[in-house]
Amino acid sequence: MESLIGAKVVVTGAGRGIGAALARRFAAEGAQVVVNDRHPERAGAVAAEIGGTALPGDACAIVPAALDALGGTVDIFCANAGIAPTGGPETPEEVWDSALEVNLKAHVRAARELLPGWLERGRGRFVATVSAAGMTTMIGSAPYSVSKHAALAFAEWLAVTYRHRGIEVHAVCPRGVRTGLHHVSEGSADLMLTSAAIGPEEVADAVLKGIEEGRFLILPHPEAADHAAARVTDHEGWLDGINVLQQRLEDRNRRATA
Ligand SMILES: NC(=O)c1ccc[n+]([C@@H]2O[C@H](COP(=O)([O-])OP(=O)(O)OC[C@H]3O[C@@H](n4cnc5c(N)ncnc54)[C@H](O)[C@@H]3O)[C@@H](O)[C@H]2O)c1
Repeated sequence: MESLIGAKVVVTGAGRGIGAALARRFAAEGAQVVVNDRHPERAGAVAAEIGGTALPGDACAIVPAALDALGGTVDIFCANAGIAPTGGPETPEEVWDSALEVNLKAHVRAARELLPGWLERGRGRFVATVSAAGMTTMIGSAPYSVSKHAALAFAEWLAVTYRHRGIEVHAVCPRGVRTGLHHVSEGSADLMLTSAAIGPEEVADAVLKGIEEGRFLILPHPEAADHAAARVTDHEGWLDGINVLQQRLEDRNRRATA
């Protein structure tokens, strides 16, 4: 891996949580970091802390301004911003649209805008914060599960298509991470944020290690590989197991409202 000293890095959704940890970690390695968040005060606070550049705004349309801020080149783009709405097919259309916009289409747009320059230079690195939900599922949230599967599929497609042309792609797939993301996910969040939950700094460590090792799939929780393997090799058993968790959640919610 090339040195991170002076590397031009963009992290979306970096005002808190995993994105903020990534921004801090890249800055600590000597990178020049653009800190994006749709909450300007969050982007400003993290940028001030790490000596980076705040870029408030929607991650879905951030690349031109990021290129401007970095003098026309991005070395590493971290498509990290994400939202986790709860619900199934009854979830309002606009909520489905937002999940697909932020969790998937922001990645597609960024790649569309960055690839021409990267292919010309023969170099570029795309880090997608996906989720273990992209390899398995997320109880209680169909828009999250579906958009994260799609984000993983897109990252894989990029890797398959451009690996031989100097483009490196990483898909980061953590399980529970202690951030503000799941405050709206009620019961399902408790199931994810079990004792296996880790801090955002551990995700950032795993990302740096994954970049160093040149790995596509970065699993801050190694057991996620076993869960994904079980899903493929014994899909019926895997579905039964997850459904038991779903039933447990329903029982608990019933007791809580009784
Ligand atoms: N927390 C977890 O358990 C967990 C697990 C697996 C994957 N992830 C993924 O990690 C990523 C970061 O999640 P987190 O847990 O740090 O969440 P978080 O909510 O703590 O932080 C996300 C930040 O992104 C910002 N953001 C959201 N939508 C945005 C947009 N359209 N444009 C710009 N900024 C936007 C928010 O304002 C927030 O500051 C997400 O993609 C999430 O799906 C999280």
